[in-house]
Amino acid sequence: MSFSSRIDVQFRIPYSYPVFLTDGLFSAPGISGNGENLSAAEYLKTQKNSVADLIVDEGVVAKVPDRLQAFKSFFEIEDALVLTGGEAIKEQPDIVDKLHQRWLGKELDRHKQVVIIGGGAVLDAAGFAASLFHRGMGHIRMPSTVLAQNDAGVGVKNGVNKFEQKNFVGCFKPPTAVINDYQLLSTLEDQDFYSGYAEAVKVALIRSPAFYSWLTHNSEALASKKPEQVKYLIALCAQLHLNQISQGGDPFEEGSARPLDFGHWLGHRLEVLTNHQLTHGEAVAIGIASDTALSVELGLLEAEHLNQVVSLLRGLKLPVFHELVSAACETPQSESFLKLYKGLEDFRQHLGGQLSIELLKGLGKGFAVNEIKPEQVLSAFRRVAGLC
Ligand SMILES: NC(=O)c1ccc[n+]([C@@H]2O[C@H](COP(=O)([O-])OP(=O)(O)OC[C@H]3O[C@@H](n4cnc5c(N)ncnc54)[C@H](O)[C@@H]3O)[C@@H](O)[C@H]2O)c1
Ligand SMILES: [Zn+2]
Repeated sequence: MSFSSRIDVQFRIPYSYPVFLTDGLFSAPGISGNGENLSAAEYLKTQKNSVADLIVDEGVVAKVPDRLQAFKSFFEIEDALVLTGGEAIKEQPDIVDKLHQRWLGKELDRHKQVVIIGGGAVLDAAGFAASLFHRGMGHIRMPSTVLAQNDAGVGVKNGVNKFEQKNFVGCFKPPTAVINDYQLLSTLEDQDFYSGYAEAVKVALIRSPAFYSWLTHNSEALASKKPEQVKYLIALCAQLHLNQISQGGDPFEEGSARPLDFGHWLGHRLEVLTNHQLTHGEAVAIGIASDTALSVELGLLEAEHLNQVVSLLRGLKLPVFHELVSAACETPQSESFLKLYKGLEDFRQHLGGQLSIELLKGLGKGFAVNEIKPEQVLSAFRRVAGLC
């Protein structure tokens, strides 16, 4: 073989993992299972031998300490690690090292796996650490917020924040399995509960007129957390996200299109600028209102549609506006505007210079736009301000 030849390498790796929707997997005093959970429990039994650690979001067990014992008994792990949940965990500079040291101490290898029970932030951070450990140890996710069950916990991404940017360091690594246990949601604060609805509105707006219409007809039941409607929302929202990932043609985001990031360029920026006073879901709701207005501004959508989206978000107890957006309604050169507009520039840089922002050309129809002028963003902010 000569040294001027070329070797072509090509292989494909098929990925598959189950996502279980269940209600009451763990039985313990104060925690009752209701029998809907057999397939998830049976599945977990098949994984038990390889499960070597348990990472739990403190929020899940703070109000119902019996849960921690139930998790430990179920997975036969004595020394579960309880982490303070929320965005701070993704900002903690040494979180990945800490977890690696723990697993080194436990002599875990890449054929072992960890179970992570928590909100999107704990899943992102601990899933990232597991994905790097020995070049990739498996992880089973048990998402414990609405948003984690219908979006963050079911997909293929992990990561942490750095340099004031969300998910600046991360990787794509599908979980071994996802178990969505509805019962875990019973202890959520209202803010964390309703936040999850934002991702449902997002995916409905870009992909499913039928789901969008269902949301508008069921907003009152959702606002009062009726289990039947909440379960349906989580199931359909998770399904739509998974359809996009598995059938959208770009599961590991090698191209520039980011349909699932509708509403996120502003959302991510607001999260950072408010020091995470706004939850991810709340910030995304404000981003959805603004990007719907931007779609109107670009002539893609009727102005009446913006009114409808704004009233749906409000009906679902989500915010549509923020003082930082109102302060930015001055000129495209003002500091307050540029602070927010940087979100769009961060997206452009993340994508390698070519902007691709998902907007709407109908309620249920996403549309990627490659050029957006600061003046158009400003007018969109003013449009939403006019409704508030
Ligand atoms: N990887 C992805 O594809 C993806 C997708 C969407 C969002 N995300 C990320 O997910 C994060 C947001 O996740 P989130 O909305 O789940 O919020 P979160 O993880 O920040 O949790 C919010 C709060 O709820 C608490 N909590 C969690 N479960 C609880 C329970 N069962 N009972 C009581 N309290 C509980 C947590 O301790 C925390 O205080 C963001 O960092 C976002 O960037 C990731
Ligand atoms: Zn999101």
